[in-house]
Amino acid sequence: MDNVLIIGGSGMLSGVCNYFLKAESRVTVLSRTNKKEAFERGDVHWLKGDYDNEDFMDIVEDYFNSNDVSTIIIWMHNEHSDNFKRLMTFLMGEPKTDVFHVRGSSAFYSLDTVKYGDNYHQVILGMNKSNGEIRWLKNSEISLGVIVATQEKKKVFTVGIAPED
Ligand SMILES: NC(=O)c1ccc[n+]([C@@H]2O[C@H](COP(=O)([O-])OP(=O)(O)OC[C@H]3O[C@@H](n4cnc5c(N)ncnc54)[C@H](OP(=O)(O)O)[C@@H]3O)[C@@H](O)[C@H]2O)c1
Repeated sequence: MDNVLIIGGSGMLSGVCNYFLKAESRVTVLSRTNKKEAFERGDVHWLKGDYDNEDFMDIVEDYFNSNDVSTIIIWMHNEHSDNFKRLMTFLMGEPKTDVFHVRGSSAFYSLDTVKYGDNYHQVILGMNKSNGEIRWLKNSEISLGVIVATQEKKKVFTVGIAPED
């Protein structure tokens, strides 16, 4: 059974969790609060953690020590934090885990700064167009894009359109 860990999966990525639950994967969401109601099924697992706290990496490493994690999806707000950097360093030593790092649109301007392991993939949230107007992505579009990114496994995957398109 695939084991999918989603950091920050109870908000805009809840559709990603629902997809993996339907695919019969074991799905675990790391977040500060247990938001079971965010998901279509009750069999989502909750890993209590705060990526701003000092014990964050202990929680992640303990989880990896007792689970074979096939996929980790990461939606963290501050990718300059020590915890984010520690997480990336740790995951470079976990080559069997596919890493999908979801990044906001500001990532379009810092693409070349990312040099992590072969298992690392970026998923960049772009924009969308409705009636000729550029707009933010809807949560459903973000989740669908992240699902496709996990299937295609490109090094860099853009959800929607890039600012210059
Ligand atoms: N380019 C784009 O289109 C774009 C880019 C970025 C964002 N957005 C939009 O921005 C909206 C808001 O995004 P959001 O990130 O604020 O909300 P969100 O994705 O709806 O929720 C954030 C997730 O991270 C968890 N989280 C937050 N802080 C945490 C912490 N310190 N430690 C552990 N987990 C934490 C939350 O759970 P807990 O609160 O329980 O911890 C939740 O699971 C989205 O709805 C999206 O539409 C759009």
